[in-house]
Amino acid sequence: MDPLKNPFSPGAGSPPPELVGRDPILEEARILLGRIKQKRPEKSMLLTGLRGVGKTVLLNEIEHLSKEVGYRTIFIEAHENKALGPLIAPYLRSLLFDFDRISGVGSRVKRGLAVLRSFIGALNLTVGEVTIGLDIEPEIGSADSGDLEIDLPNLFIAIGEAAEDRKCAVAILIDEIQYFTQKELAALIMAMHKIQQRQLPLVLFAAGLPILPGLVGESKSYAERLFNFPDIGALTEEDAATALKEPAQAAGVAFERDALEEVYRLTRGYPYFLQEWGYQAWNFAKSSPITLQIVQDATATVVSRLDKNFFRVRFNRLVPSEKRFLRAMAEFGQGAHRTGEVANILDAKISSLGPVRSKLIRKGMIYSPSYGDMAFTVPLFDEFMMRVMPQLEKV
Ligand SMILES: Nc1ncnc2c1ncn2[C@@H]1O[C@H](COP(=O)(O)OP(=O)(O)OP(=O)(O)O)[C@@H](O)[C@H]1O
Ligand SMILES: [Mg+2]
Repeated sequence: MDPLKNPFSPGAGSPPPELVGRDPILEEARILLGRIKQKRPEKSMLLTGLRGVGKTVLLNEIEHLSKEVGYRTIFIEAHENKALGPLIAPYLRSLLFDFDRISGVGSRVKRGLAVLRSFIGALNLTVGEVTIGLDIEPEIGSADSGDLEIDLPNLFIAIGEAAEDRKCAVAILIDEIQYFTQKELAALIMAMHKIQQRQLPLVLFAAGLPILPGLVGESKSYAERLFNFPDIGALTEEDAATALKEPAQAAGVAFERDALEEVYRLTRGYPYFLQEWGYQAWNFAKSSPITLQIVQDATATVVSRLDKNFFRVRFNRLVPSEKRFLRAMAEFGQGAHRTGEVANILDAKISSLGPVRSKLIRKGMIYSPSYGDMAFTVPLFDEFMMRVMPQLEKV
């Protein structure tokens, strides 16, 4: 059918034609936003889930909700090699300047700027990394100790107080949060702890791969108390069917029941894959309805597109030892596996695999669902590894 009218939208962060199965989370976000504005205590939200389940799409939707109810928002995406301080500072600066423009005396806003100035001063940024150019004197002794776990909370308090002063509320949204270091995560958690104690109008929504099992000590127990961790997962069979049926129907096209069942079987309800199958099945079909046969005909194209794009970009970032490790892991399929099992089939010592394992976690290819266990972050990556490396190579 006409590719121009194709309603499906495979792609990182591309809004789906129908955001299915996420109402409970959006409702939770709405309540959280409402309560923070009313100075009632509520836990911030950290959406965690595997690659391609729709975290970014949800975070965008939550930003939209926040704006609708009058919040100022900051949306940042963490990167492997970018520190939290320099990443967030320019956004906080614009926010404070925004507050500064709202009429009123605003000593709290001026103070916010002064604290931000000292925070930036303590980051030791190289020239050009952040051009803040604040012609404001730093507030010596605030947020400038050089220890992020002390400075970030002080900065957040100053921002929260400035917002309160301006009768505003702030939502900070952070995507790919797993790329922050333990120290940065601890600082962020500590900052939110202080904000909550003082009931300031600042809320955090974050999304990323599961991070909680990797946190240790104090930050872990704080995190558990301060955040809800809704698990963003695959859709149920019914929701997966709706995700395909509704957008097609809006364009006057039907899916046959066994066609939907086949897509569910192949995708296991993972949103990114649903969009890919929907997209190709639409293009393959000559007319409505989309039948089982069409889905089957489209499957080879979908798999090869996924292999070439979704899976391949991640595979290409790996060195040979990492590929071997993942290939060995693939022997056990999806789900959580012990490092020992992988070591066994590679005839390697567990200790010798430690560095590879940590690099794979850093690169966001695997994560640790519980102590000593690891699992793929990309759904169906095990099957891809078997296709791309049919032979298991030992070390
Ligand atoms: N609830 C949903 N129903 C149907 N499709 C969805 C849903 N949520 C997301 N999608 C689709 O899934 C794909 C992936 O979404 P998104 O990029 O938000 O995932 P992600 O979890 O952020 O992935 P990554 O971890 O790789 O960043 C997009 O094509 C999007 O349109
Ligand atoms: Mg994303």
